[in-house]
Amino acid sequence: MIPEDVPAALVRRIVGRHGGDATRLLQILIDVQDETGWLAPGVITAVASALSIPRSRVEGVAGFYQFLHKQPVGRFHLLFADNITERMQGSVELMASLCSKLWVEPGRLSEDGLVSVGTTSCIGMGDQGPSLLVNGQPLTRLSHQRINQVAELIRREVPLPGWPAELFRVDDNIHRRDALLSLDMAPGAALRAAVALGRDGWMEQMRASNLRGRGGAGFTTAVKWMACRDAPGAEKVVVCNADEGEPGTFKDRVLLTRMADMLFEGMTLAAWAVGARRGFLYLRGEYRYLLAPLLEAIDLRRAENLLGRGILGAPGFDFDIEIHLGAGAYVCGEETALLESLEGKRGTPRIRPPFPVSHGYLGRPTVVNNVETLAKTCLIALHGGEAFAATGTAQSAGTKLLSISGDCAQPGIYEYPFGVPIERVLEDCGASDIQAVQVGGASGITLASYEFHRRIAFEDVPTAGAFMVFDSSRDLFDVARNFVDFFAHESCGFCTPCRVGTALLKKAMKKLAEGRGAKTDLADIEWIDRLLKNASHCGLGSAAPNPVVDTLLKFRPAYERRLQSLDFEPAFDLDAALAAARRASGRDDPAAHIGAEEADQKG
Ligand SMILES: Cc1cc2nc3c(=O)[nH]c(=O)nc-3n(C[C@H](O)[C@H](O)[C@H](O)COP(=O)(O)O)c2cc1C
Ligand code: SF4
Repeated sequence: MIPEDVPAALVRRIVGRHGGDATRLLQILIDVQDETGWLAPGVITAVASALSIPRSRVEGVAGFYQFLHKQPVGRFHLLFADNITERMQGSVELMASLCSKLWVEPGRLSEDGLVSVGTTSCIGMGDQGPSLLVNGQPLTRLSHQRINQVAELIRREVPLPGWPAELFRVDDNIHRRDALLSLDMAPGAALRAAVALGRDGWMEQMRASNLRGRGGAGFTTAVKWMACRDAPGAEKVVVCNADEGEPGTFKDRVLLTRMADMLFEGMTLAAWAVGARRGFLYLRGEYRYLLAPLLEAIDLRRAENLLGRGILGAPGFDFDIEIHLGAGAYVCGEETALLESLEGKRGTPRIRPPFPVSHGYLGRPTVVNNVETLAKTCLIALHGGEAFAATGTAQSAGTKLLSISGDCAQPGIYEYPFGVPIERVLEDCGASDIQAVQVGGASGITLASYEFHRRIAFEDVPTAGAFMVFDSSRDLFDVARNFVDFFAHESCGFCTPCRVGTALLKKAMKKLAEGRGAKTDLADIEWIDRLLKNASHCGLGSAAPNPVVDTLLKFRPAYERRLQSLDFEPAFDLDAALAAARRASGRDDPAAHIGAEEADQKG
């Protein structure tokens, strides 16, 4: 079915299409896999040989990304989103139902090679879950009826283009518009305004705007841009981070769908400010379905002289944009991991300093900004920095897009000026009887109801945009456990504290979930928190314990009711593990059991 002896000619053709450029290795592997179904050992060898690079490098990249397959997968390969809000909507039961209808075990390939079913992290469809990816295409609003339909289509081996379009419908679900989402801008209008100001005048407006990054860290955008502009090196680069992997966030998906042109205009505005000629949009693999319209939007801008050489007739204003696909690795949203991935490597975060502004893509000064940050620069170019800074709060200028999901009547996208209280947001999205909100995704903060007066702002409750709502019927332990599993799955394994710490957390939560926990386990969690916070190499590791620590502090009974005893309970059952030795020695008397003596004494 899937060729082990893939023709080297096919690989050479694909590598040729990418100019034989090893920095495009990830893109090459994605394209090759599209043709071959999976990356068999022979394929990996052929890619290494066509690029004249060590096989181990190709093998390392192929093994890093979840959407690259070193083992065969089904002709229909389905991945259910395993985020907590999707679980709340019944994703686990739906997946079990599909597997039983198709006679396939989760994580296994069916004997006839037709189908494989598994899970993946949040696919950015939290407002219309449960959802899954089938051969990379999102299927939304799953129900038992839809699962029956999907099973039937697969059994009949109907190719994806023949499936009902309704199954693939992705809605924007915009429920509240403010400055950005209500902006109706003609292509090039913001750029014309910035070009008229000159590069320095435009940077001055950016400085006056106090715009801070919307990707999470909230770094002041103008400071980043100035550092890049002033860094030594003629070849500057602008990168848009569209990796949007934080569980529960999907606002960049909507901007990429609705406002792609504004995003590309924002990238071009950044290029004008820093003097960049090259731009990249790093698009998460889960949003691959948006690739074709995004490429079309870029082509249109080229045709209108809004990209390319001498943009809008400004001498020396040359800039163009390429799109690179990610392949299912959350850590690649971290900007230095993203740069590694963009260079065709494993997405391992870099040691900093040096920072990307001076040593970014291929060592060149690079600006990395979030989709929303870049789109917002259009508002600044059109209306001026001061007007932008006039909304929001003192330390958080402008508006923020929230991706709302979970227990509410109207999940979707809401844009508010910074400073909006949590309770107002809950009211607007139709949420009632709410015990907690997870703001900022798995790595964010869990707010209990007594904190709902707090405000969305960098100085109070910062967020990249995720806003997950949990009513009083939810068990906050399950929520935290889902996030812990997510981090353990997504840890890139580069540094020991994170690799081991996230695994230990996962184990501790499992033990508690099975009702075998003791108070010492709760103390251990606090100890692992300190380890991860102090010794992790990147933000993934340091944020990993946040949901457990927050819920332990604010919803402690959810943990305490799972304790078997107040003393130590081992996670490992030594006595059971020695059963084989007892059998071999023919002994099964009380003295051959660990703990028997202790039990005798207690008895
Ligand atoms: C584990 C991890 C994942 C991240 N994921 C994203 C992401 O998906 N999108 C994003 O814009 N920033 C993400 N960030 C933040 C980026 O590293 C970076 O700060 C951001 O892209 C800068 O853009 P901004 O200044 O416009 O916010 C992530 C950070 C970490 C530590
Ligand atoms: S903290 Fe985790 S994700 Fe970050 S580099 Fe270390 S192992 Fe990788």
